[in-house]
Amino acid sequence: MKFTKTIEVKNIFNKISYKYDFLNNLLSFGLHKLWKRKLVNLLEPLNGEDWADLCCGTGDLAFLIFKRVSPRGSITGIDSAEDILNIAKKKSELRKNKFIIWEIIDVLEINDYSKKFDGICMSYGLRNLRNIEEGMKKVFYLLKDKGRAGFLDFNHSNKNSLSNIFQKIYLRLIVVPISHLFNLSPEYAYIEKSIRNFPKKNELLKIAKEVGFKKAEYRSIFWGQMGILILTK
Ligand SMILES: C[S@@+](CC[C@H](N)C(=O)[O-])C[C@H]1O[C@@H](n2cnc3c(N)ncnc32)[C@H](O)[C@@H]1O
Repeated sequence: MKFTKTIEVKNIFNKISYKYDFLNNLLSFGLHKLWKRKLVNLLEPLNGEDWADLCCGTGDLAFLIFKRVSPRGSITGIDSAEDILNIAKKKSELRKNKFIIWEIIDVLEINDYSKKFDGICMSYGLRNLRNIEEGMKKVFYLLKDKGRAGFLDFNHSNKNSLSNIFQKIYLRLIVVPISHLFNLSPEYAYIEKSIRNFPKKNELLKIAKEVGFKKAEYRSIFWGQMGILILTK
């Protein structure tokens, strides 16, 4: 069952990779860039620090963090889907950016903790992991003491709340029909299912505390549509 989800997720992101950035911009009306910037601003990466962008996809966060941590620090983008990571690599080449390190690996299969990070970020990744608690544990082990981590994702709001109803309307009447134009509707229909299985704010905070994070804060943004979880080790 768990194995199946990993394969399914990987296939989805490999399949949509060629349209990923285009559809992200279109379907969020470009707003995903603002939310990612907000996450990075909250995390305040500093020049000289070592960072990782887990589930980096086409590398949006890695590119934002690069601007903050270079030239003395480092940023590593990690993803399990080869095709989407290749797009991140291509973007690096086009920008003549040799600073960002790209690694293909399943986050849940990381077992080498010899390189620790000052900070770790993940946007729209945690929800896709087959085991969220395991994912948070990996982040915990990969962080240096007092390191910080930030996660941006859809907010799983209470059933029948206004934001929940709005989210469903948006996903069903905008996201799925538009992605259908590109023959990608099953892949984008997956988002609603994944939000349903994603822990709500208080559950995420509880998992983070159980994993061992000293400080955990959650803020919902954009009228409860998205959420940012900030953790300190
Ligand atoms: C919705 S995309 C987000 C990409 C990027 N972070 C962004 O915000 O645009 C989710 C990404 O997580 C990656 N992913 C899912 N499960 C993963 C895992 N177990 N290990 C590494 N990457 C994973 C997918 O391949 C995909 O690129």
